[in-house]
Amino acid sequence: PPLNQMLNLRDIERVAENVVSRKTFAFWSGGSEDEITLQQNSKAFSRFFFVPRVLRRIQHCDPSTIILGYHSSLPVYASATSLGKLAHPKAETNITRACGRLGIIQMSSTHASSSPSELISSRIDSSQPLWFQLYKKADNQVAATLIRHAENLGVKALCLTVDAASHGNRERDLRAQFISEDDEVRKEVEEMEESSAKEDMIDDEDVNHDGTSGALLKGDDADMTWEETIPWLRSVTKMPIILKGIQCVEDAVLAAESGVDGIIISNHGGRQMEYSLPSIEVLNLLRKQRPDVFQRLEVYVDGGFRRGTDVLKALCLGARAVGLGRPFLYANAAYGENGIVKTIRILERELITDMRLLGASCISDLRPEMVERVDVLAQ
Ligand code: FNR
Repeated sequence: PPLNQMLNLRDIERVAENVVSRKTFAFWSGGSEDEITLQQNSKAFSRFFFVPRVLRRIQHCDPSTIILGYHSSLPVYASATSLGKLAHPKAETNITRACGRLGIIQMSSTHASSSPSELISSRIDSSQPLWFQLYKKADNQVAATLIRHAENLGVKALCLTVDAASHGNRERDLRAQFISEDDEVRKEVEEMEESSAKEDMIDDEDVNHDGTSGALLKGDDADMTWEETIPWLRSVTKMPIILKGIQCVEDAVLAAESGVDGIIISNHGGRQMEYSLPSIEVLNLLRKQRPDVFQRLEVYVDGGFRRGTDVLKALCLGARAVGLGRPFLYANAAYGENGIVKTIRILERELITDMRLLGASCISDLRPEMVERVDVLAQ
């Protein structure tokens, strides 16, 4: 169907499901084990209701914000996803261009199909901010080289993924390996492993095709600590540091004490710790129990956000911005760069409509009192 018939992000997801192989779709859409966290990431939004205000002069409505000092046209960014070539030959460079055209931030994955330098040179101009997500290698030298390379290229923030001490047990993904109809995922992984070997990067996190899902990733650091890793990162780079994969209030507080610049409340889109709380619930707990943390660092959140209302709920609770992962893959597979542009525009339209209806003419009008958690309606 033509792109202009796509009314929301789920519409685009359905198109993507029909254009990619079953294997690829399983890899993208799956989560760990029984996929409870995956499902509840989205379902949890139905427990949070709005308390709209009226008569507030909202003709002019501005959804733009400042993220780590950079102007962003929306309180939304593209989160890190690996193996972009499965979606489109131009892989993550399509996301770079679309994000640049619409003025939002892209976080590039350590395991992206496009290298950081390719993404940097795909930007629409040199002021377009790009973040780099890091799976830290146990070998500090190797990790430091990767970080400095990103910094020298002009990357604006380092997002250390902290929820992947082991590879999640993704059975949908494992089961899909038994499908023999096509081998595009395997081919892609093999190609990546070849080029990774050259670049001294070892294995892919997200596709573990030898049936050892759950094993520790080759070369990755499962001995990271608050005491050693964060000061070490600070000594290696001047880039702002963001911890991606905070799943409880206590760790959010430790992050603030460690002096990092931001945290991403995330369970990796339900792909890592099964029964990790839905992200919006963790954000709500942080708001209730430790509102001071929001003053000490920027809080971002991801996991199951598909609607303007989902994003607004997180912003009311104090998130600075919201990351989306899968929707960018789906859009890239279904319609390429223009599909990604459309995805961002849909979110923008939904956000503006919903901000007006909520009585907020700018992001700073969004308040915790505008959201009420209603337990009785939980699914
Ligand atoms: C991811 N995610 C991820 N995160 C990360 O830190 N490094 C990575 O390489 C990847 N790769 C990746 C691949 C795929 C196929 C998916 C679906 C996800 C997690 C991602 O950054 C983000 O946390 C979630 O995707 C957010 O949830 P939604 O928006 O996909 O529901």
